[in-house]
Amino acid sequence: MNKTIKTATFATTIGMILATAGSAVGLGNIWRFPTMTGENGGAAFIFIYMIFNVVIGLVGMMAEFIVGRSGGANSVTAYAKAGRELADGKVRKYGELWGIFGALGGLGTALILSFYSVIAGWCVYYLYKALKGEVLGSPEEIEATFGALVSTDYSWICCLLAILFTASTYFIVARGIEKGIEKASKLMVPLLFILLIILSVASCMLPGAGKGLEFLLMPDISKVTWKTVYEAMSHSFFSLSLGIACLCTYASYMKKDINLAKAAVQIACIDIGVAIIAGFMIFPAAFSVGVSPDSGPSLIFLTLPNVFTNAFPSTIGYCIAVLFYFLLVLAALTSTISMLEVGTVVIEQKLRLSRSVAAAIVTLFCCVMGSLCSLSFAYPEIGLAGTTFFDNCDYITAKFMLPIGGFFTAILVGWLMPKEKVINELASHGTVNVKPLHVNIFFFLLRFVCPICVAVIFIGQLI
Ligand code: PHE
Repeated sequence: MNKTIKTATFATTIGMILATAGSAVGLGNIWRFPTMTGENGGAAFIFIYMIFNVVIGLVGMMAEFIVGRSGGANSVTAYAKAGRELADGKVRKYGELWGIFGALGGLGTALILSFYSVIAGWCVYYLYKALKGEVLGSPEEIEATFGALVSTDYSWICCLLAILFTASTYFIVARGIEKGIEKASKLMVPLLFILLIILSVASCMLPGAGKGLEFLLMPDISKVTWKTVYEAMSHSFFSLSLGIACLCTYASYMKKDINLAKAAVQIACIDIGVAIIAGFMIFPAAFSVGVSPDSGPSLIFLTLPNVFTNAFPSTIGYCIAVLFYFLLVLAALTSTISMLEVGTVVIEQKLRLSRSVAAAIVTLFCCVMGSLCSLSFAYPEIGLAGTTFFDNCDYITAKFMLPIGGFFTAILVGWLMPKEKVINELASHGTVNVKPLHVNIFFFLLRFVCPICVAVIFIGQLI
């Protein structure tokens, strides 16, 4: 058996919560959630998304935490260990094959990082423009700024920014996770929260914002199709960083006495809270300035500059724009760190390479894939099945890898891991008092509700 080196643990519980919440909170909440909501009819989508977060998301997070913390190592080793162990100390035949899901996690997070870095690069560009005072302007000027960004003229700049962003992630991950991530997250996550609230209040006060609020609050059930349900489920996985071994990797850094259920609830609440506030920030503004809610990836870049321009006196608008893009870049960074971390620890521990070499290998892969994603906006022929390479990466990960990973993690923890071991993790090695009723609800959701829901919805959208 491979003896693995444990890299680090989070020093404090609050640091652990905020670092994991930092992974969950990112462009998924502020950029992807409004995009998905806009494309899927508003309130009805949000309602279904919330149900998935509570019913599948919470239990799924706990399951991944259990695999990670009990494994105490990289995701391949942790999944293999969870698959191998039997109650009586015996070993399950071929059990280590479960390590495949840990490996898929490493690959999937690298693919997510590839397309994510492109949007993060756009945020860096907007930060630069905000510093120069150039994001403020008339709706036409704002649209022209974004149009130029995705044109062929700027494609190499976007590509470079995506690479730059991935490289910055590399420097943090290569240094180890304790001090950097934990400290930065403690400051940034609360600050981001406050700024989002200020912006959403400003957005709701714009003339004509009422239509946006209606879009957010009044569900139109006639818009709900199987696709809506599927998108809501896959986005719930994406937003919670679930099903791709990321939470498993972070859980391997958690202390044994941390209450996993409580941590999952806290992280999910922060994640949902940020997404909903982001909705209140984007849609009232979109309706106010006549930007279609289903404008896709460009949505936040077309609406927010209008809020900065119209809702505040110019100097305050300038400061808020700078601060907002700065925090957005940092929020993206806390997520990309967690993405790079998964593959890095696998390579570091499995191939016995140094952390910086392991991180460099994953970074190189992400830079190549990220360049292709970035260029595919200006050159749509880069891509498969009639869509851009950017969409291909988003589709393969969010729509396939995350739900599949979540499904098998539920099977592994619900059905295969020794029940006492799972309960021992839930009880944080005897330091937390868990009620038998709660354990039964957990197992019921994990064994039946999660796998059945995910399988039915997954197969349903294929046919
Ligand atoms: N949850 C992150 C976000 O919302 C994205 C992410 C997905 C991070 C998967 C890690 C793993 O931005």
